[in-house]
Amino acid sequence: MVINRINVDGYKNLEDVSLDLDPKMNIICGENAQGKTNLIEAIWLCSGCRSFRGTRDKDFIGFTKDSAQVGMTFTDSFRQQEIRFAVKKGAIKDKLVTLNGVKLPLLSKLFGSFRCVVFTPEDLNLTKGSPDNRRSFIDMSIAQIKNSYISALNKYNNILFQRNALLKTLSMGYGDESSLEIWDSQLAKTGAYISVLRYTFCITLNKYTNELYNKITNGKEKLELYYQSTVFDNLQGRTDYEGELVEEYLAKLQSTVANDIRAGYTTVGVHRDDVGAYINGLSVRDFGSQGQARSVALSMKLAHAKILKAEQGEYPVMLLDDVLSELDPHRQQFILNNIDDMQVIITCCDSKPITEMKQGKVITMKNGKAGD
Ligand SMILES: Nc1ncnc2c1ncn2[C@@H]1O[C@H](COP(=O)(O)OP(=O)(O)OP(=O)(O)O)[C@@H](O)[C@H]1O
Ligand SMILES: [Mg+2]
Repeated sequence: MVINRINVDGYKNLEDVSLDLDPKMNIICGENAQGKTNLIEAIWLCSGCRSFRGTRDKDFIGFTKDSAQVGMTFTDSFRQQEIRFAVKKGAIKDKLVTLNGVKLPLLSKLFGSFRCVVFTPEDLNLTKGSPDNRRSFIDMSIAQIKNSYISALNKYNNILFQRNALLKTLSMGYGDESSLEIWDSQLAKTGAYISVLRYTFCITLNKYTNELYNKITNGKEKLELYYQSTVFDNLQGRTDYEGELVEEYLAKLQSTVANDIRAGYTTVGVHRDDVGAYINGLSVRDFGSQGQARSVALSMKLAHAKILKAEQGEYPVMLLDDVLSELDPHRQQFILNNIDDMQVIITCCDSKPITEMKQGKVITMKNGKAGD
């Protein structure tokens, strides 16, 4: 998937931005607060996902503007397509969204047409942050390749919510402990299914991240990712999520019930699982340097793009916001010259690393305006 052309006007501080993009590498360079991330955000919105910065729709429009418009043409392996959306002040809910000229009711209806993967400085949380960051990353990635996964997750969360409500009551000395059984068996069924899908996904994720990280570090460091289950000691080669794994999950819930009642919530299960990242055997979360944490998070995002390609036959566009800072020259060079199988758009403040770039387009962003 390749963006051919992007037009943005009135989106936050962006004014009359009209760019033909290189099919491979594009660098958006400029000082702080010039509109680089705003441009990445405008492109991201064309994927039908909500803003990765949590921007509310009314804040799309520039402070001094009456409307915001974004237009993009992109090519997938079949054809060229066009996305447009516009938001007017005073009519935020009434957006004009079109795909190939056909009106859509909501921005989210664009989902599935234009696909991109974004890396932002907040993604450092993937390595340094709490386990929920890693769980959401793998859940979101699995959901993109397996339709039934989101409904399994929602089901699990509903059952968990009700089990936790009962545990809270029990922890205060009320309620009927035998009622836990109903929730336990349902939680075990859905939990076993989620565990198997996540475990299997992490094997693939590890294969790709391991290769990418090896290249980023010039073979000096070895990265391994593992799915860490709070329920199962070993999931290797096990796929019977309707049989023995359910039994084992149930047994685990029952063995920890006293703890759960004391705590007032469910202490084991897929909602407490994690993905461990280790460099040469040391936990990245506990011991990784800033540059290592950033490189691991980046490898995970690039691996996500490769998994999408393997599953859907098409690379997404890679949006890398402020990825070069804190990386040493070799790692910067890898990003600028070796991610050559997909279109990449990178923002940066420092133009020095770009001088080493072998091919691609450099765009300067100043005061919301873009130039070559
Ligand atoms: N609705 C809006 N209208 C006008 N300007 C806005 C709006 N929302 C945000 N901005 C401004 O857009 C400017 C550019 O933001 P952006 O995050 O794109 O900068 P950047 O070039 O990525 O900078 P950095 O290098 O610091 O990340 C900021 O100064 C911000 O105040
Ligand atoms: Mg920025």
